[in-house]
Amino acid sequence: MSKNKISGRDFISVFDFTTEEIWKVFKLAKSMKSNPKKYRRSLDGKIMALIFEKPSLRTRVTFDVGIKQLGGDSVYLSPLEINLGKRESVYDVAKNLERMVNGIMVRTFGHDVATGLADAASIPVINGLTDLEHPCQALADFFTIWEFHKDLKKVKLAFVGDGNNVAHSLILTAARLGAEIRIATPQGFEPKKNVVDMAKNVAKKTGSKILITNDPVEAVKNVDAVYTDVWASMGQEKEAEQRKKIFYPYQVNINLMKYAKKNALFMHCLPAHRGEEVTDEVIDSKNSVVFQEAENRLHVQKAIMHELLRD
Ligand code: CP
Ligand code: NVA
Repeated sequence: MSKNKISGRDFISVFDFTTEEIWKVFKLAKSMKSNPKKYRRSLDGKIMALIFEKPSLRTRVTFDVGIKQLGGDSVYLSPLEINLGKRESVYDVAKNLERMVNGIMVRTFGHDVATGLADAASIPVINGLTDLEHPCQALADFFTIWEFHKDLKKVKLAFVGDGNNVAHSLILTAARLGAEIRIATPQGFEPKKNVVDMAKNVAKKTGSKILITNDPVEAVKNVDAVYTDVWASMGQEKEAEQRKKIFYPYQVNINLMKYAKKNALFMHCLPAHRGEEVTDEVIDSKNSVVFQEAENRLHVQKAIMHELLRD
């Protein structure tokens, strides 16, 4: 099976897609959302291997349902099964799977595991979250913002919390789309410098503005949307208590939301730890779009699989 070179080949980082390719995905996702029946046979008989080395609700269900809605099917591989790089090398896993399935989605720890799979496999590989990035999430999130704001170049998004995978992918997506993004983290939890540098480089061309700060109020002032994520990510469970103390000033609550625009959206990739990074009042407010974001994972990932897997 050969890699389809139409789009980003693999989707391991947001930056695997150009600005035009992201817009192509958005327009296709919009069409798929409004007219799913039209695409019922688009990926007829295509099989995705879904490799999970961490737990999941949204990613698992949306990839599984998504490929089935396009006429294909999936094989779920749980954290107990493959043991990527331990029971068997990443290279050997890729060389097996490329003979059996048409595409791979991988959720794992090290980003190098995902890139290693993509480099070795002749079939498309999609990142379903690594410690460095969560590109499908960020695309679904900007697609959600687009449903409210037609001109993404005029949108200001604030992310308040840990500057890791979700924040990284949001920065890269904002850079590609020319949106403004402000990231507020505690000291020592800023996004990685090389990710920010890459984004700033692209931002020069697209008109995106990127601010990294330790001040949540500075980040949130007058924005169109406020985003947060858990304080302890999967794999950091042991640090959870310590992190609670550090991140508490970064909680998204009504007081912080007051600095944003009046009808600013509240966003979260989920799962949420209510009462920690976000209060019930905010996540249950009328401007919260967290479940719309979750649903949009389905439509956007269907469009991504369509672009990467179709003949
Ligand atoms: N947002 C997200 O990726 O959710 P899951 O961890 O449940 O897949
Ligand atoms: N930062 C979180 C995102 C979960 C979707 C984690 O990695 O656990």
